[in-house]
Amino acid sequence: MKESPLVPAANNVHVSLNERSYEIEIACGRLRSLSNALADLIKGNSAVVVTDTNVGPIYLDHVRQQLSVNATKVETLTVEAGEQSKSVNVCDSLWQQLDELGTDRNTTIVALGGGVVGDLAGFIAATYARGLDFIQVPTSLLAQVDSSVGGKVGINLPHSKNMVGAFWQPKRVVIDPEVLDTLDESNYIAGMAEVVKYGLIMDAELFEFIEQNVARILARDHDILGRLIAWCCRCKAAIVKEDERESSGARATLNYGHTYGHAIESVFGYGEFLHGQAISIGMVCAARLGKQLGMVDQSFCDRQRALFQSLGLPVRCPETRHDELIAAMQRDKKVVSGQLKLILPKGIGTVAFLRAPADSEIFKSLIND
Ligand code: GLY
Repeated sequence: MKESPLVPAANNVHVSLNERSYEIEIACGRLRSLSNALADLIKGNSAVVVTDTNVGPIYLDHVRQQLSVNATKVETLTVEAGEQSKSVNVCDSLWQQLDELGTDRNTTIVALGGGVVGDLAGFIAATYARGLDFIQVPTSLLAQVDSSVGGKVGINLPHSKNMVGAFWQPKRVVIDPEVLDTLDESNYIAGMAEVVKYGLIMDAELFEFIEQNVARILARDHDILGRLIAWCCRCKAAIVKEDERESSGARATLNYGHTYGHAIESVFGYGEFLHGQAISIGMVCAARLGKQLGMVDQSFCDRQRALFQSLGLPVRCPETRHDELIAAMQRDKKVVSGQLKLILPKGIGTVAFLRAPADSEIFKSLIND
């Protein structure tokens, strides 16, 4: 990757969190001039890049070279690509390696990869030496529009996704929509489920914009992608500003479709469904439950489903193991004082909470139309 003298001005989004505030820089080609984007943060520090076996071979050399412009030393830690790397064992190995590298408080961790790398590297940054600075350079659509923003970092336990973690905000997020060119088709499409989710939970205009631009989205048009990513990051920044630690309820709305989705991922295995695919099905089920309870009508369900289908996202719940799905939903982190709390739609752009839905209603919502 060559440095471009013509990198366009960044489309920044500010995440306003008092002393933990930071910028999300979004611009096509930004990775090519990463040294400029990070100069103020890296200067005089050493950097440790955490990446994985998929992303490292494509971008690591360039990112190391860019960081070397300002950093005193640049090291790399590479983990196996895939959800299984968000584990206690991998964390343990990374902590030991940081120790062997002589990592100190003047080290900045740079997460180069998708959601797994961002969550894992962020958790390492949050915990090693009681906290190191970290920077997110997300390379998947899901990470660019959701997981790299807002400071949720963590790892999985064998039966509970994201159960061990922290809120640890990055110092900056640098997003280059061009890196999505190298993302495989299913991960790209799966990331679109999170993009549509923002429209559904809080922004009808965004939902309509997606409906009107499906062809350009499928063609990975950089201009549309830059606009969509910035739009989603503005939505997420507003939510995180209001409810950084998911205590008032605003942030929990981001989990629309996720309780169903996490259950599908955990019952059918994390390799079977990508996260975005599982939450696409999850949002379809949540809308069906909303309809059962009179919160939305059939036309809402049809419109939501049509958009997912036009993007190539799955909309049908697996037709077996419904009891296990319900049990997994009841184990979800969103169970408070023994009561499951679901986010259900009230219309395009608005959602509401439903406490303690009956298992029989959940069961019905799993049955495909
Ligand atoms: N991905 C959900 C959140 O950041 O709260």
